[in-house]
Amino acid sequence: MTQEWQQAGLTADQRADIVVKAMTEEEKFAWLSGPMAIPLGDEPLPEGAIGSAAYYPGISRLGIPAIQQSDASLGVTALGNVRPGDNATALASSLLLAATFNPEMAERTGALVGQEAFAKGFNVQLAGGANLVREPRGGRNFEYLSEDPLLTGIMAGYSVRGIQSQHVVSTVKHFAVNPQETGRVVVSSDLSEAAMRESDLLAFEIANEVGQPGAVMPGYNLVNGEWASENAFLLNEVLKGDWRYPGWVMSDWGATHSAAKAALAGLDVQSGANLDQQAWFAEPLRAAVARGDVPQSRIDDMVRRILRSLFVVGAIDHPAQRHGDIDYMAHRLLAQREAEQGIVLLKNSDAMLPLRRGAKQILVVGAHADHGVLAGGGSSAVTPVGSLRLPGVDFMGIQTDKVFQPSSPLWAIRAESGAENVDFVSGDNLDETLKQAKKADVVILFAEEWRSEALDAQGLALSDEQNTLITAVAAVNPQLVVVLETGGPVTLPWIEQVPAVIEAWYPGSGGGEAIAGVLFGRVNPSGRLPVSFPASEAQLPHPQQVDPESTTSLPGMPVKGGIIHIDYQVEGSDVGYRWFARTGQTPLFPFGFGLSYTTFTRADLQATAEQEGVQVSFTLTNSGARAGAEVAQIYISPTDGRFVPRLAAFQRVELQPGECRQVVLTLEPRVIACWDEQQQAWVIDAGRYDIVLGQHASDVSLSVQIDIAARRFGYCRAE
Ligand code: BGC
Repeated sequence: MTQEWQQAGLTADQRADIVVKAMTEEEKFAWLSGPMAIPLGDEPLPEGAIGSAAYYPGISRLGIPAIQQSDASLGVTALGNVRPGDNATALASSLLLAATFNPEMAERTGALVGQEAFAKGFNVQLAGGANLVREPRGGRNFEYLSEDPLLTGIMAGYSVRGIQSQHVVSTVKHFAVNPQETGRVVVSSDLSEAAMRESDLLAFEIANEVGQPGAVMPGYNLVNGEWASENAFLLNEVLKGDWRYPGWVMSDWGATHSAAKAALAGLDVQSGANLDQQAWFAEPLRAAVARGDVPQSRIDDMVRRILRSLFVVGAIDHPAQRHGDIDYMAHRLLAQREAEQGIVLLKNSDAMLPLRRGAKQILVVGAHADHGVLAGGGSSAVTPVGSLRLPGVDFMGIQTDKVFQPSSPLWAIRAESGAENVDFVSGDNLDETLKQAKKADVVILFAEEWRSEALDAQGLALSDEQNTLITAVAAVNPQLVVVLETGGPVTLPWIEQVPAVIEAWYPGSGGGEAIAGVLFGRVNPSGRLPVSFPASEAQLPHPQQVDPESTTSLPGMPVKGGIIHIDYQVEGSDVGYRWFARTGQTPLFPFGFGLSYTTFTRADLQATAEQEGVQVSFTLTNSGARAGAEVAQIYISPTDGRFVPRLAAFQRVELQPGECRQVVLTLEPRVIACWDEQQQAWVIDAGRYDIVLGQHASDVSLSVQIDIAARRFGYCRAE
């Protein structure tokens, strides 16, 4: 039967309007709140649900499919083993993706996730983690991209674009300023409007522009004392007002706290309602409509937003097929290519790397490298068939595992090294490890740091055992490479004793092969740090963390009514490298840093400021003997020091040996501007600015100055 919305020439808005008009109130409310579609306790799976984060019934008489929602940014998950035996490709952590500085890679890997979601029957992917890494110990930083709003926004946006190219809606989440897990439902991120607009909100704003996500998920946290899911400033004023966001806002699971208040603040759907105190968007919302507290038009608006997004990505014209036809080999190879671009070479004394092929004896130590590579935990953890699962954390009543994905660095090193012998020891027995290490030509030691949703890192140090092991091995065999598999920056107290260090993050389904490729030179490392590595926690704006046991007595963290207020105004919009610049501190490794097996030269930096914006041009040359990729980074700051240098443009450039390329980039105007709260506008002050083409955030070797005219721009607001 042809539906009215199928007439030719209709826009997504018109089609959504037609369907909303035809829907009954029952049908509408069936879409406004729903339980987690994973059996919890005795609750059965809703009929028709595949088994995933959420399910909302279809309306077959109108030709509208059910909404099946799955997690997350790094691949299609099966939380709580809800679909036993289900395979999936695991992408590397988002930090690794950001380290590629390659939007095209974000789009391609996003499309991979969208394709797998579609082939498993899902039409909404709860992806697009776009929070800034404000708290380097945050448990979910591996799901987020970086400490910089431009890099985060662009990479998140392209990833969303990739997912949505497969007729699958993507979210961006967790809107906004949601940097830590400890006390995640009672933590208020307190920050001025200007600082927020210039940092965390800017990341989401750019992600929305680039990716046009069909849905936005507010975080569990509060922002300036109001829960994100009922925060009228965030949802109505900024997102739906200034940014004219046309999609729907779905709460996080168990993060809705009211009916009328949330509905009037801009929340459209209560997700995971069985985890909340009440199914707020069911009877209580109906009652609020009946009382006249919430207009009926608002209910229609909620449903229209959902339909519009589904129509825009083609999820209704091309309903997700549960055909399971997925080329896992091809996907694994793409995951490997991603990891190869995002692994960061941190240290390489005396060009120890790449390792010579054909050694006699290589010893591989630690981190279950005989089996696979570490993955971050929680709702985003992808579990390819063959994963090693160790006890993890329990959250939302679901036992989740610590997962090692099946891409064994040991086997990849065996394949890549051409060595006579490659042995493995777990590292648990120090004496045995040292005995073996002494005999080896080279030792490759894997160090791990596991983070998870609901589990912040308690400090930035690796475990004492691992630090002791690394120091002891370095003492008996200086031919040592340390490979880090971490959920963010860690401190490296042994850095002086170890000649070569690689940051492999959580490298995903092709991680083992990618690491081996970098170690033996098949891959020339090109990843750049998307987060600063502090020398110690004392350098951070918040040296102390919230104590998970006692949420009462920490300095700077007052508790009001059970809510913990964290004062992010300390650093304001100067997150990460900007904080280091503002305070004149030297990090262990700066944002944007990463070594290569070749060398690059930069020259001819020029800048022009025209009506259309500020443009820079420069030449990059690969002055070494190997093909490689450089990440050009442009930082800008006013010469009077009103603000510290900010990343205003970047580009990853691949160059053959001796190749020279001219690059032209346009700077992001909102990075040159500051948000003026009185004028409610972005304001660029007239004056002289320094423009730096840096190898990283602390490199000022090549710069020019430019005069920029005053400019003010804002949003069209209805008076
Ligand atoms: C997470 C979300 C996720 C949701 C559904 C929540 O715990 O915060 O990121 O999408 O669960 O699984």
